[in-house]
Amino acid sequence: MTRKPNLAVVGATGLVGSTFLKVLEERDFPFENLYLMASSKSAGKTVTFKGKDYIVEELNEHSFDKPIDIALFSAGGGTSEKFSPIAAAHGCTVVDNSSAWRMDPEVPLVVPEVNPDDIWKNKGIIANPNCSTIQAMLPIKALHDAYKVKRIVYSTYQAVSGAGMKGLSDLAEGLKGNDQCKAFAHPIVGNALPHIDVFLDNGYTKEEMKMINETHKILGDDSIRVTATTVRVPVRCSHSESINLEFEKPFDLDEARELLRNFPGIIVQDDPKNAVYPLAREAEGKDEVFVGRIRRDFSVDSGMNLWVVADNIRKGAATNAVQIAEKLLERL
Ligand code: A2P
Repeated sequence: MTRKPNLAVVGATGLVGSTFLKVLEERDFPFENLYLMASSKSAGKTVTFKGKDYIVEELNEHSFDKPIDIALFSAGGGTSEKFSPIAAAHGCTVVDNSSAWRMDPEVPLVVPEVNPDDIWKNKGIIANPNCSTIQAMLPIKALHDAYKVKRIVYSTYQAVSGAGMKGLSDLAEGLKGNDQCKAFAHPIVGNALPHIDVFLDNGYTKEEMKMINETHKILGDDSIRVTATTVRVPVRCSHSESINLEFEKPFDLDEARELLRNFPGIIVQDDPKNAVYPLAREAEGKDEVFVGRIRRDFSVDSGMNLWVVADNIRKGAATNAVQIAEKLLERL
């Protein structure tokens, strides 16, 4: 880094946007000027960052006329589709948390512990993967490099915060006995909803197809067979995932555990006899991916089961994006 960047946070008033700010502050991210942007609804609001007050600006076609080096976007797909190219055309590098650009072949899709070098292929936009994909990528990459994964079965248990403020509100109201359904098709309290995002013609949900397609793109290998069932559960924060893996090569379970333990960003919590395994409530507020229940799948020649938990708003969104931005500083 030769100088400090001018930084923008787009969607700064949202759940992920405000967590961008929290993570930037915690990690003491260097910046010269900071611009906070949101919709006209929030324009003029004051947000305090590092003890200083900032006025939220309305995002518009001229927002990037001023010099901005890096913009962290979490303002929905439509907003990103329209404004990311405008930002990029002005020389800004966008790190976008929406699904708008993830499968665009011109746009790198990055988990910094997994495929950091893809960042440098960017043409002004870098996509942050889906929350449920990000946390799965770390343990899978650790094992894929050693044993070559050939099939993945994802089953997820996802927190309501993945559906933003409305999701949190449906859970909070439901716990008070008011079965409102602002974010979900059915009451979330007392239920497990096998329905995240919309259903597609092939019978899968968009969330499930995101996990499948993004896994191929991040690992750079379309030959891996992947299937997924994604489920919303009445948990406030942190997604939990059962991940079943089948490998081409045989593995030693102790060695596999060691590979997971040594991989950056992973914490192994695996002492089931003492009831130690990753838990959503314990992962909340943390940046690491927690891995446990590491065991052989006896039904195939070389198979493994994992239980993987991470804070979906932090590592699943804000922290991953800030890590990408930190990497961008290397070549500013
Ligand atoms: P605002 O609060 O002004 O509506 P969440 O995912 O938690 O709902 O947050 C979405 C974020 O994206 C909010 O900061 C929201 O701003 C912002 N946003 C939504 N639509 C637009 C838009 N058209 N232009 C700019 N920001 C937007």
